[in-house]
Amino acid sequence: MTKKLRIAQIGVGGMGSVHLRLSHAKNPRIELVALCDLIPERCERMRRELGREDIAVYTDYREMIEKEQLDAVDIVTPNDLHSVIAVYALEHGLNVFCEKPDAVSVEEALKMQAAAEASGKVLMVMRNNRYTQKARYLKDFIASGAAGEIYCGRCGWIRRRGIPGRGGWFTTKARSGGGPLIDLGVHMIDLAIWLMGNPRPVAVSGATFCKFANDDKSDSANSAFGEARADGTFDVEDLAMGLIRFENGAVLQIEFSWASNVARETRYVELRGTKGGITWADGNKVVIHTEDEGSLVDIVPPGPLADDGHARNLRHFVDVVLDGAEPCFRPQQGVDMIRILDAMYKSAETGAEVRI
Ligand SMILES: NC(=O)c1ccc[n+]([C@@H]2O[C@H](COP(=O)([O-])OP(=O)(O)OC[C@H]3O[C@@H](n4cnc5c(N)ncnc54)[C@H](O)[C@@H]3O)[C@@H](O)[C@H]2O)c1
Repeated sequence: MTKKLRIAQIGVGGMGSVHLRLSHAKNPRIELVALCDLIPERCERMRRELGREDIAVYTDYREMIEKEQLDAVDIVTPNDLHSVIAVYALEHGLNVFCEKPDAVSVEEALKMQAAAEASGKVLMVMRNNRYTQKARYLKDFIASGAAGEIYCGRCGWIRRRGIPGRGGWFTTKARSGGGPLIDLGVHMIDLAIWLMGNPRPVAVSGATFCKFANDDKSDSANSAFGEARADGTFDVEDLAMGLIRFENGAVLQIEFSWASNVARETRYVELRGTKGGITWADGNKVVIHTEDEGSLVDIVPPGPLADDGHARNLRHFVDVVLDGAEPCFRPQQGVDMIRILDAMYKSAETGAEVRI
C-alpha cells in the first residue's frame, strides 16, 4: 500500500480550519491522526464537520507528539508559538509545516533553521502566493530571461480598514511580532523576492505608524482572522512603508496597512526588468509589459488562473516528505525574511537605514 503522511495539526482557529478543509481532510496521501488546540471544542467541532470522530483530540502538543506515531505536524497557532513548537517537533524527529510568519524574531528563525538541519527533517513555512497559477506563470516568464535584468519593483497589501483580532494576539507585539508588516508583508515581500530570483537583502529603511488602534470598522473579508478583545493590547503598527536593497543592486519598495485612507483594499507586486515588467494584482490580474517588433505590448495570459495557493503549498509539503521532491522553500529564505522585517522595525525606531 502507498505510504500516507501521518499528520497532526496544532491550532484549530480561523486558519487551522482552512488547512483542514483544503488539505488534510481531502488529500488522499494524508492520514489526519490528531488535532490539538487549547480550546478542545474547536477540535471537536472540526471532527464533527469532517465526519471524523476517530481523530484524537489534545490540548497539549507535547503529550500528543509523545503518544501518537506521527510523521509530521502542521502548526497554525499564534505567531509566537511557531518557532517554539517547530523546534520541539523537529527535535522529536518530525517533519514540520508551519503557517507564516516563520518566527517573531531573527533569533527564533535561526533556531528553527538549526533544528531542521540537525534533524534532517523537512521544515516548510507557508508561502501560499508562490503556488498560485498566476505566480507560476510570471515566474516562468522571468526565469526564461524574457524580462531581462529585474532591477526594481514595488509590492504591498494595503487595507482601508481591516485590523485582524483587534486587542487579541494579532495586535500584541510580544505574541505577533508586529502589525501588518509581519502579517501581510511576509506574503507580498516573499512573492516579490521569489519572482526576482531570491536576491540577498542587504539593507532596509522604513517608517511605521499607528493611527487607527481605536477604530474597529472593517471592510475587509481578509480581516476576519484572530479573536478581538475589547480590553486588549494594541502595541503594533497599523501601517509600514519602506525600501529593501539587495546585494545585486536591485531595490523593492514596500507598503502594508491594516487601516489607512485609501480607495480600497489592494494587493500587488510590480517588478521592472530591462526587457519587460510584470504586474500581479488582486482579481486574478496578471500582465506582462514588454515590447514586440518595435511596439509596446501587454500580454495577458488566457485565464482564468486558479488562485488555490494554500492547497498547492500544503500538497507540495506532502510531496517533499513522501517523495523527496525538490522543496520550493528553504529555511534560509525564512531567516532572510525575518531579518528584513526586523531591520524595518529597527529602521522605523532609529530613522536610519539598517544593514542586514
Ligand atoms: N497564509 C495565510 O493566508 C494566513 C491567513 C490567516 C492566518 N494565517 C496565520 O495562521 C496562524 C493562525 O492564525 P488564525 O487567524 O487562525 O488565529 P486564531 O487565533 O483564529 O487561531 C489560533 C488557534 O491556536 C490555538 N492555540 C493557541 N495556543 C495554542 C497552543 N499552545 N497549543 C495549541 N493551540 C493553541 C488557539 O486556541 C486558536 O484556536 C497565524 O500565524 C497567522 O499568521 C495565515
